[in-house]
Amino acid sequence: MTILNKKILLGVTGGIAAYKSADLVRKLRQAGAEVRVAMTEAATRLVTPLTFQALSGHQVMLDWEQPESDFAMDHIALARWADVILIAPATADFMAHLAHGFASDVLSTLCLATTAPLVVAPAMNQQMWQHPAVQANTAQLAARGVHLVGPSSGDQACGDVGEGRMVEPHELVVFLSTLFQSSNRLKGKTVLITAGPTQESIDPVRYLSNHSSGKMGYALAQAALDEGAEVIIVTGPSASRPPVSASVIHVTTAQQMYDAVMGEIATVDIFIAAAAVSDYRCEQVATQKIKKNSDQYHLILQRNPDILAAVANLENRPFVFGFAAETENILENARAKLRQKKLDMIAVNDVSNPKIGFLSDRNKLTILWKDGEKELQVSPKIMLAHDVMDVMLEQFNIEG
Ligand code: CTP
Repeated sequence: MTILNKKILLGVTGGIAAYKSADLVRKLRQAGAEVRVAMTEAATRLVTPLTFQALSGHQVMLDWEQPESDFAMDHIALARWADVILIAPATADFMAHLAHGFASDVLSTLCLATTAPLVVAPAMNQQMWQHPAVQANTAQLAARGVHLVGPSSGDQACGDVGEGRMVEPHELVVFLSTLFQSSNRLKGKTVLITAGPTQESIDPVRYLSNHSSGKMGYALAQAALDEGAEVIIVTGPSASRPPVSASVIHVTTAQQMYDAVMGEIATVDIFIAAAAVSDYRCEQVATQKIKKNSDQYHLILQRNPDILAAVANLENRPFVFGFAAETENILENARAKLRQKKLDMIAVNDVSNPKIGFLSDRNKLTILWKDGEKELQVSPKIMLAHDVMDVMLEQFNIEG
């Protein structure tokens, strides 16, 4: 994975995350890329062009006339020069410009005048990100082949907490590396991924579930999309957003997840079971809220279908890749699951470590297959997902 000698045009728009873009320029250059920067006028009110000039080693392209500038390239030449255009941060306003093809400033003009891939890292208030207009623009950009990275969730500069933060500079560097590396290896393939938790009702207000966030499944979906696959996600309830270019089927219970998977599986080439499926459901769901009348209360639980095992046992089965969440004897238990469930590959993670796994944006996985294994280091889930795809494509002959 490398961006060595790549020509990256960084577009900075007027979001508070623009201060992080200064660090992004440093990181891109440290990784060997050549960087030029274009800024919208709003961005220049947050960070001075001089900062980007100093960090990139080149004059920054701005909206207004630069008569004294030694700028060797006009905007068309700059648009042709770029191997990729990265907009980070991308405000809601700029994304609307992009979605509608405006050429009202130098940066949006550059985006129209290029044939290079366009990568957009949205950054805005969480309420704005959720707005249907922003979502519609995002979907339109995705449909046009624009690569969307993030936003991630967490504390926001405005005091809100939620989805809308620009992804971290090092994650953008990783994304660009994988973009240059990925070569549509899954073009023509359909990948079905289960993600998130399932919920099994106890009564009208309570349910059995687990801590799965869906993030690992969604990252795998993005990585498969980046490799050119058609991706279907069957997901349990999750606060995170699945990648916009995937087809998404929302379910709640394990049985619904099973039914949705079986409804799609006939045309699937690769099945990835990343969901944390409830192994049991209540034998009977109480129709009224259960009252606390006694000191103990017993639930009778009934086994749910094992979706992964069912797919692996199909006569015309796709490539089957499962996950194992373990707290002890990690590798032994995973190898047993690989064998017992007749899987092609399994990824195991240690869910006893709170710094990684379920609710975290980072994870550590070991991949096992019949006659081998590979340990992947702790990294952001999107990077890990690309590493998983690499292992899968290196070990098995499933390229498109
Ligand atoms: N899985 C599934 N359907 C189920 C249970 C699990 O498809 N009803 C899949 C998960 O998506 C995962 C794999 O099986 O890919 C292993 O899940 P895990 O919870 O680690 O193991 P279990 O098979 O449930 O075994 P146990 O809970 O006994 O460890």
